[in-house]
Amino acid sequence: MKKVYIETYGCQMNAYDTELVKTILGREGEYQLIDSPEEAEIVLLNTCSVRDNANRKVFNRIHQIKQKRNGDRVLIGVLGCMATNFRRQLLNDPALPVDFIAGPDSYKRLPQLIRHVETTGEKSFDVTLSEFETYADVYPTREGGVNAWIAVMRGCDNFCTFCVVPYTRGRERSRDPENVVAEVRRLAEEGYRQVTLLGQNVNSYHFEGRDFAYLLQRVSEVEGIERIRFTSPHPKDFPESLLRVIAENPKVCRHIHLPLQAGNDRILQLMNRTYTRAEFLRLVEKIRTLMPDVVLTTDIIVGFPTETDEEFQDTVQVVEEVQFDSAFIFKYSERPRTIAARKYPDDVPDAVKTERIVYLNDLQKKISYRKNRQHVGEIHEVLIEQEYTKRSPEHYQGRNEGNKIVVVPKGEYHKGQFVHVKILEAAPHALRGEVLAVLPK
Ligand code: 5AD
Ligand code: SF4
Repeated sequence: MKKVYIETYGCQMNAYDTELVKTILGREGEYQLIDSPEEAEIVLLNTCSVRDNANRKVFNRIHQIKQKRNGDRVLIGVLGCMATNFRRQLLNDPALPVDFIAGPDSYKRLPQLIRHVETTGEKSFDVTLSEFETYADVYPTREGGVNAWIAVMRGCDNFCTFCVVPYTRGRERSRDPENVVAEVRRLAEEGYRQVTLLGQNVNSYHFEGRDFAYLLQRVSEVEGIERIRFTSPHPKDFPESLLRVIAENPKVCRHIHLPLQAGNDRILQLMNRTYTRAEFLRLVEKIRTLMPDVVLTTDIIVGFPTETDEEFQDTVQVVEEVQFDSAFIFKYSERPRTIAARKYPDDVPDAVKTERIVYLNDLQKKISYRKNRQHVGEIHEVLIEQEYTKRSPEHYQGRNEGNKIVVVPKGEYHKGQFVHVKILEAAPHALRGEVLAVLPK
């Protein structure tokens, strides 16, 4: 058996792909997965290239592994988004000790790629993007636990001008709903209580006339699965029918991640986001009318090329107006091949980007804290996810419907159970409370 170690960077889709790769290699019967790189004969890095810092981390890591293992024979394989986007550099730079690379649609060929390097000593690669590969026939090797991720679509056709995903992961394609439901049934049998439907653009899911609302409805009919989440959606794909399913289906969590990216119309247009600030705000209003208690989170980019201080203030205003529960805020990072990289020079100085991100993070922290404090005194339904917290073995941790972390004292309940919690205390990123009752579901 050859010892293989896999390290994963970036988004949830990458974490999911690592679970697929484990199954694909496991089927061969000649690979043993291990937990650290020290003894591995094959090291796989499943990489991200959405921002430059993710990229740099991987390049450093490749050198570090090789150095530590100086003299040992170890094959290094690069998987994921950097494989597609940095193919030339990875294969041709003599200073980079990379032996093979495989893009997100080529994982079924990994055993062949590895064999090729082993037998010929030559580097091997496959970064072909497919219009059809969904890995519907590969059952991921999951870690276990309470939540299972399940990719229902892959790729993205939106071409937001800053984003490298359409180039690294290719065109949108969705899985047959019957196949998704069959997998969710199996997950329920294995004891999972929650599924999170995954896609680069998850709400543009469509398969032979069936849309995302239909898929949510079908998945919710699976007994044993009590909570359904999804990520990451695009604001352009929220028809009324989808909002209704989220509002009315008790299993679908009323938490919507709604990436704003920017609050200024000129910047939104340069980003090719296909909505205006007013349209975004109208969508928020519509969502809140249907679901007054919805949790809204977002992604924002500061310092997109040519963004002025006044235009940044428009983003600040939207953040103040919407009062998101939390936000992931990023500095614009120019990505090779994207439309923005070709058309707009990255002209906002890093110091200005830093100023803007610090300002927005501060503002958002205050908002998150204020929103969390409003929950004190309420009773929330919490799914216990782990029987410890980072800080204390005497506490358990779970999440409420809005995906907020809720910490409770250790007690006569366990992982996978639903409990009613009275919220006693709030912090910007978590709630704390006492368990009133264990729910029968
Ligand atoms: N620079 C900065 N942030 C980016 N994102 C995507 N591409 C870039 C980029 N080039 C952010 C977006 C997206 C999130 C996953 O990452 O906000 O929603
Ligand atoms: Fe990137 Fe836009 Fe597609 Fe999201 S919707 S993956 S930001 S191109």
